[in-house]
Amino acid sequence: MIILGIETSCDETALALIEAEGNSVGVLSDITHSQAALHAKYGGVFPNLAKREHSKNLIPLLKTALVESNLISNSSNCLISKQTEKGLAKMLNREPELLAEFLKFIPTIAPPSIDLIAVTEGPGLEPALWVGINFARALSTVWNIPVAPVNHMEGHIVSALLRRSDMNNEGGIKNSVKTDKQALSESSIIHNSEFILHSPSFPALALLISGGHTELVLIKKLGQYETIGETKDDAIGEAFDKVARILGLKYPGGPEISKLAGKARQEKQGSTLESEKRSDLVLPRPMLHSGDYNFSFSGLKTAVLYTVTELPKLTEKIKVALAREFEDAVTEVLTSKTTKAIKKFGIETLIIAGGVIANTHIRASFEELRATAFPSLEFLIPEIPHSTDNALMIAVAGFLRLSRKGDSTKASAEPLLAKGDLRLDEK
Ligand code: KG4
Ligand code: ZN
Repeated sequence: MIILGIETSCDETALALIEAEGNSVGVLSDITHSQAALHAKYGGVFPNLAKREHSKNLIPLLKTALVESNLISNSSNCLISKQTEKGLAKMLNREPELLAEFLKFIPTIAPPSIDLIAVTEGPGLEPALWVGINFARALSTVWNIPVAPVNHMEGHIVSALLRRSDMNNEGGIKNSVKTDKQALSESSIIHNSEFILHSPSFPALALLISGGHTELVLIKKLGQYETIGETKDDAIGEAFDKVARILGLKYPGGPEISKLAGKARQEKQGSTLESEKRSDLVLPRPMLHSGDYNFSFSGLKTAVLYTVTELPKLTEKIKVALAREFEDAVTEVLTSKTTKAIKKFGIETLIIAGGVIANTHIRASFEELRATAFPSLEFLIPEIPHSTDNALMIAVAGFLRLSRKGDSTKASAEPLLAKGDLRLDEK
């Protein structure tokens, strides 16, 4: 079946078209348009700007995705009756720009052979989420296709189950997809890829680390999630972004800190690291011994702020040392809590997903942990381009959800969203 995935929960407008059958996923189109450069001025994501940008981007991206997938045809155009147009105007009344583009483009093409629309229903920024949900509902109305609402965090989990079957890791990547989110100032397009949807052994544990979440989730089987630990304050990606701001680095801060910390690690041979000589540059490891699986990162950010405030001058050398120390501190907390949970719950598969797993040092540390402490543990992480937000993971999660339910879900985003910021174990 062919599935259109739509992701607008934060500052990426992303669309994907996949052809999925059993455990095989063919990617017809996979487009991610990052707004990071626009939000950088505000030092973080500005929800109403994100909403406006999604409204502007969706139709041009849909056009590109359909062309890429060879799903576009104008043989029998999609006529929209006056009554349907009225309904659409109501549905998209908060997105007038999207409505205008929708009414200009959709009637010029035949309804494409898409079987399901999967859309992120949450968690995320509400104004941004609604653009994607309303767009999905509008397409569902004119093309008569069911909509499956998808939990964004389940999408991240699913991203770790995708294994390339074309054995070509660079395969099909056009427009040089970069590791760092902020580098994706233009749309990145990944196409012609083939993936196998891997079935992990259970119980599995997912460590979800993103801009909005830090969670340890116990998975007895796909679709059955229990959050066993979470952050009590800031999410880890948020901490990366805030610390970057304190250090005068641009948004999104994760890749920037990672770059600086990488420099420090390279310099280590000469043992010139500031943090190794100066105890005032040593940061705390919050909640390391709390005895539970929860996290806290806001104190760590405050510690960086105090350190910087007390310095006579924030030199480049100190920035580099602090970035490395920060990365070390969060990595130690993450690996320690995860180790505890793996032991306690007899975990067979460890999944790590969410934007922060794009971090090279965190990836390497977990790989090392598995190799040294848990050699028989299955370890699944998404490839770097699919670590940060994307619509491929949403399309595949929609497919899995449909396979679990055995039937299609009508556009039901509204009542589900009314519950507010959905947690993963609410399913
Ligand atoms: O999953 P994601 O794309 O969006 C959310 O669902 O939140 O995650 C975005 C977060 C941002 O906070 C960003 O700074 C962080 O992921 N991030 C990184 C790296 N790349 C992105 N954090 C650390 N190191 C990276 N290389
Ligand atoms: Zn995300």
